[in-house]
Amino acid sequence: MTLPASVQGGPKNFSVRQFGMGFAHGKIILLGEHAVVYGAPALALPVPGLTVTAKAVLSSRPSGHPGDATFTMAGIVPAPAPVETGETLRRIVVDFKKTTGIKVDTPIDIVIDSGIPAGRGLGSSAACARSVVLALADLFGRQLNPGTIFDLVQAAENLTHGRASGIDTLATGSSTPVLLTGGVTREPEVEIDGIFVIGDSGEVGRTNEAVGMLRRRFQRDPQAQEEFLARVSTLTSLAVRDLADGQAGNFGARMIACHAALREAGLSTDRIDTLVGVALTAGSLGAKISGGGLGGCVIALADRPERAQEISSRLLGAGAERTWTVPVGRFARHGHS
Ligand code: PMV
Repeated sequence: MTLPASVQGGPKNFSVRQFGMGFAHGKIILLGEHAVVYGAPALALPVPGLTVTAKAVLSSRPSGHPGDATFTMAGIVPAPAPVETGETLRRIVVDFKKTTGIKVDTPIDIVIDSGIPAGRGLGSSAACARSVVLALADLFGRQLNPGTIFDLVQAAENLTHGRASGIDTLATGSSTPVLLTGGVTREPEVEIDGIFVIGDSGEVGRTNEAVGMLRRRFQRDPQAQEEFLARVSTLTSLAVRDLADGQAGNFGARMIACHAALREAGLSTDRIDTLVGVALTAGSLGAKISGGGLGGCVIALADRPERAQEISSRLLGAGAERTWTVPVGRFARHGHS
């Protein structure tokens, strides 16, 4: 292709392709949300069916400043203020250029096609950020190592969430479950057979507000912080063991107990509590709110596909906007969904 005047001439440490593509997917937190911000363990599951694709091209518009980029949202448009999203994404462009040493002032036009509803604890912001980073890398023919990708996505997440643990950044790019403890990640062993059913309450969750609310409460009452972290850490650690031991029933019980801890911390809503109750009545092994809270999604565990279908239809009947399923163990290996 013919390069725009602003990228021609001078020593070049990159090559420009006609366009660059980047991909990422959604995630759901199984246990440990909020506590993970303070270094406690959290367990997240990738949701490969919820995808984001970003396409980046050099613009034919006149040359601008290093952060000059347009973002067009296709698919499910994010619920948070688009201006805020645009500023966060522009920051990625600036950081990407700084990190890679690529000096191009030509504006970049980026189209993000997202199938992840925003504000539901499904990793929409991290997945959008990741897809943009990867699209930029592809556009400029750069292979980024996982650490660099993490840093770029995480910087954007910190802008979006205030203080992000990194679990969304990791899980939206992982093909396997993620266990994050004190900033260190590892892949947990999964020996349980089951189907996780995600139900969208339709209420927009407010992660930033929820994280801030908890932080202020913990500053006023350090004892409450200690108790919350001890309670949730224990549940998550036991759940990780249940996962490895194939104890789906015990894992479900940890989910129920974790929901109680999050509800008592003021992070649930009446609608979420209703959906959790509906999932349990429909035969879930466990159910809870997931993610930042104050809205968002519930996650329930079913022991087999028929039960997952039943839970899903009861959730929809009780007002859930949508449901998704993520099989694990033999149901994943046999291609059920
Ligand atoms: O993006 P959400 O709503 O799933 O929230 C992420 C989980 C929190 O623990 C609340 C925040 C974080 O950065 O870990």
